[in-house]
Amino acid sequence: MEIDWKNLPFGYMKTDYNVRCYYRDGKWGELEVSSSEHIMLHMAATSLHYGQEAFEGLKAFRGKDGQIRLFRCVDNARRMRTSAAYIQMAAPPVDLFIEAVEKAILYNERFVPPYESGASLYIRPLLIGSGAEVGVKPSKEYLFLVFVTPVGPYFKTGFKPMDVMIIRDSDRAAPLGTGHIKVGGNYAASLPATVQVQQLGYATSLYLDAKEKMYIDECGPANFFGIKEDSYVTPQSRSILPSITNSSLMTLALDMGMTLECRQITVEELETFDEVGECGTAAVITPIGKIFDPQTNRIYTYGDDAGPVSTKLYERLRAIQYGDVPDPHRWISIVE
Ligand code: PLP
Ligand code: COI
Repeated sequence: MEIDWKNLPFGYMKTDYNVRCYYRDGKWGELEVSSSEHIMLHMAATSLHYGQEAFEGLKAFRGKDGQIRLFRCVDNARRMRTSAAYIQMAAPPVDLFIEAVEKAILYNERFVPPYESGASLYIRPLLIGSGAEVGVKPSKEYLFLVFVTPVGPYFKTGFKPMDVMIIRDSDRAAPLGTGHIKVGGNYAASLPATVQVQQLGYATSLYLDAKEKMYIDECGPANFFGIKEDSYVTPQSRSILPSITNSSLMTLALDMGMTLECRQITVEELETFDEVGECGTAAVITPIGKIFDPQTNRIYTYGDDAGPVSTKLYERLRAIQYGDVPDPHRWISIVE
């Protein structure tokens, strides 16, 4: 079957292989390559009942030179370890994580989209408690798995502004909960809001801090940022995921001579930004055109086109990812 690289959605496509590794008797085994899309799982596995599950998302890009570039894999490996530690799971060592990711890419090389398509290979490492328990306690056994799938933009608009809605009647994460790690429960908790806003015609939800509902937290499955004159402003909060994309944009903003502000952002402050957007591996940078606050009926508007600073950041990030420009911060590793 021919793949229509230019029109790929952000979704699952079957690829040839995935990579697996089992943790048993207190240690990780050998990496295994599988062509099955299915896993055998005990019906009492802790992942199924008590949410012992963490995942990652990262991307590989094919450059003009044909080489495959993997973006900041070591940071995803470390974040998976942080997620796992919090919910008491054994986690793959950084080297094992990277080896599994590289193997999954190479075994599926034909699915890495061509340079011209603007698409990429999305890599999804997954860690689950696989041991049977009925009492609430950590599993003694784990499965670490990596699958890949070629993807296009997460939001249909791509790099065009989308509209979002502030959410006040549900929370994706508790103030001292699991918002800062990448575990499945956060995404389950985000579903009521996601479905609600999409039914109203918004692309995604803008979450406020769960305790006071005063400050911006996150935007759908991505971090939030605002541009104010020459400042890049992004929320500081215990309950948002430390985004690797956001950290990259902060570095690029500094490179561009901008000032960085990581701090609380009140809802009222929204009207003072020149540009706002969301950022993440899947979302890359997606500019926000309008923010609707249902409590006040206010609509904050930022225009129908991406702003100049968001555009510059987007272009710089993409150029590094595809290898069009040098990689001064050593974010890229070549997979061969
Ligand atoms: N916030 C949430 C809740 C996410 O799911 C993601 C996606 O991974 C992000 C932020 C962005 O993080 P990253 O840039 O590391 O992909
Ligand atoms: C990512 O950006 O990699 C994510 O994990 C978002 C996602 C949950 C689709």
